[in-house]
Amino acid sequence: MQVKHPQPIIEVQGLNFSYGAHPILKDISFTIEEGDYVAVLGPNGGGKSTLLKIILGLLDPEQGSVRVFGEGIKKLRHRERISYVPQRAAQEEAQFPATVAEVVASGTVAGSPLIGRTQASSQKAVRIALSTADIGQFADRLVYNLSGGERQRVYIARALAGQPKILVLDEPTAGVDVEAQQHFYRFLKQINKDFGLTILFASHDIDVITHQADTVLCINQRLVSHGSTDDVVHSAAFRQLYGAHPRQH
Ligand SMILES: Nc1ncnc2c1ncn2[C@@H]1O[C@H](COP(=O)(O)OP(=O)(O)OP(=O)(O)O)[C@@H](O)[C@H]1O
Ligand SMILES: [Mg+2]
Repeated sequence: MQVKHPQPIIEVQGLNFSYGAHPILKDISFTIEEGDYVAVLGPNGGGKSTLLKIILGLLDPEQGSVRVFGEGIKKLRHRERISYVPQRAAQEEAQFPATVAEVVASGTVAGSPLIGRTQASSQKAVRIALSTADIGQFADRLVYNLSGGERQRVYIARALAGQPKILVLDEPTAGVDVEAQQHFYRFLKQINKDFGLTILFASHDIDVITHQADTVLCINQRLVSHGSTDDVVHSAAFRQLYGAHPRQH
């Protein structure tokens, strides 16, 4: 078996962030390695979405350093290597009159002179994304005619069409039933394994998540706990926040 030496892909050191006078993230430090499948957990308002936006370079840290791919987050080329599915994406864009194929294609940067990607390679990326997300059969259907669970896969496919190294999802299963959630997280784990894609997702669905994610990053303004899922759910700090550990086999 090939021995892998994971490299740090996201390094956060002494991060502080406030919206105006309201401190939101306080002294957060952690490292995520390439190929990790990470659940970002924490209560409402704990700062999960804010942390993801900082990693994406959409918000600037007030203090501390955030490095992605070993560099500062303002490098333009990072945008090509991180795909983001924002919170409530599937619900908010549901009324938009576009087909599945059109939405997925919008995740590519066809013909961009910056990276020299051609129309043909973008079309290929769309085909692969549709089949990976198993929505090829829906390609010509309007997105708003799909079920919540199907629509979710469209947004994942759009993110994959950008051929990212890191996939960031903010509460991707909001409004989806438990069975579909489990199916969805298994699917994410599969693409994590098959493509070595680093995945970070924020969620509240503790039961489902802790059965799927390899690593948990728990934040409630401060870093509550970070480590392997088993270690985190058994940690005193996590149990204080969520009660007895949810992992009941
Ligand atoms: N643009 C903004 N301006 C001011 N305050 C904000 C802004 N965005 C978020 N906040 C506040 O920052 C805090 C953290 O918000 P954030 O969205 O990061 O939390 P979250 O952990 O993602 O919560 P949820 O689980 O509800 O999605 C909240 O108190 C929120 O009201
Ligand atoms: Mg949020």
